[in-house]
Amino acid sequence: MRMRAMVFERNVELRSLNTLALPAIAARLVTIVAARQLPELRRYAEFQARRRLVLGGGSNVVLTGDFDGLVLRVAMAGRHLAGEDADAWYVRSYAGENWHEFVSWTLQQGWPGLENLSLIPGTVGAAPVQNIGAYGLELGERLHSLEAYDLVGGELVGFDRASCRFGYRDSRFKQEGWHLQGRYVVVSVTFRLPKNWLPVIHYAELGAELEGLGIKSPNARQIADAVMAIRRRKLPDPALIPNAGSFFQNPVVDLSTANRLSALHSDLPRHAQGDGLVKLAAGWLIERAGWKGRDLGAAGMFEKQALVLVNRGVACGRDVLALAQAVQADVKKRFGVVLKPEPVFV
Ligand code: EPU
Repeated sequence: MRMRAMVFERNVELRSLNTLALPAIAARLVTIVAARQLPELRRYAEFQARRRLVLGGGSNVVLTGDFDGLVLRVAMAGRHLAGEDADAWYVRSYAGENWHEFVSWTLQQGWPGLENLSLIPGTVGAAPVQNIGAYGLELGERLHSLEAYDLVGGELVGFDRASCRFGYRDSRFKQEGWHLQGRYVVVSVTFRLPKNWLPVIHYAELGAELEGLGIKSPNARQIADAVMAIRRRKLPDPALIPNAGSFFQNPVVDLSTANRLSALHSDLPRHAQGDGLVKLAAGWLIERAGWKGRDLGAAGMFEKQALVLVNRGVACGRDVLALAQAVQADVKKRFGVVLKPEPVFV
């Protein structure tokens, strides 16, 4: 079959393609709707751009300025039951599908397992890159495998769960500078959804929400509804108030640092990680450093969740950087803890 020529758009405004609504012009942009376009892409001169950026829903990226390279906008669609055995359903989605719609669809089909990750913005293809997680579950726990196109090697590569090297908001794709070097483009992701489903409700706030509703043995739909209710109460809808979810990772510190802080602040939230490490709550540190609901220029830290940086209307990448640095500096000064941003800076 003869392929249609690739369309490389020039000087494309990316404001509507990132959930922080930051203005930035991309020198070139190509939309990928089918995996077979990826090998084709390599034949074009535009592909040799100095920088490439793979963009899904744009919900985990901070555009600090214009992008003098090629943006690959991933829009591959489709989802299906890829297989089934006695223990699990194997459900596959192409990378451009909206994450939340995919989760809702699996629940409608009667395949539970992703309910705790309801309402997370972004696409299916971006989800494994930062190993999205919420309310006691991380994507890596449900991922079976994924297929990514290696733009450097020019081939489709399969990754099983172990080879994705998942960590807290981390994977090999993030480590290898996936966004900046634009090496791997996730094509499809396959989830293993166990038939002996067990509810994951140990996250304190989720447990409390269900208890408040009088639900003792929740089904997956009820967990999804509870997660959505909590998120809607605390997190701004990017369609109304531009944001990129948690702007910083929760810092993991050694036991002596955690104990020093606990001695000074008896209400310090902390979660033992094993191996002598303790995860602290960045939102709590930011709030105590005086930044909850506070603005700097056209950006601010959200009033209902201090960990979320919001664009108050006309912020640009420089405003976001200035605010992020001010918050980091105050948290460092007050607590001696370094906050690491969660989104990728481009
Ligand atoms: N807290 C405050 N003040 C705040 C915000 C939080 O004191 O302004 C305290 C809370 O009281 C609580 C603790 O911090 O004791 C943790 O807060 P929360 O349960 O709201 O979760 P989080 O640690 O702030 C993380 C994820 C979220 C995820 C939630 C629920 C990270 C960086 N963030 O937030 O993920 O939805 O847990 O599991 O790990 C995202 O990554 O974009 C994201 C939204």
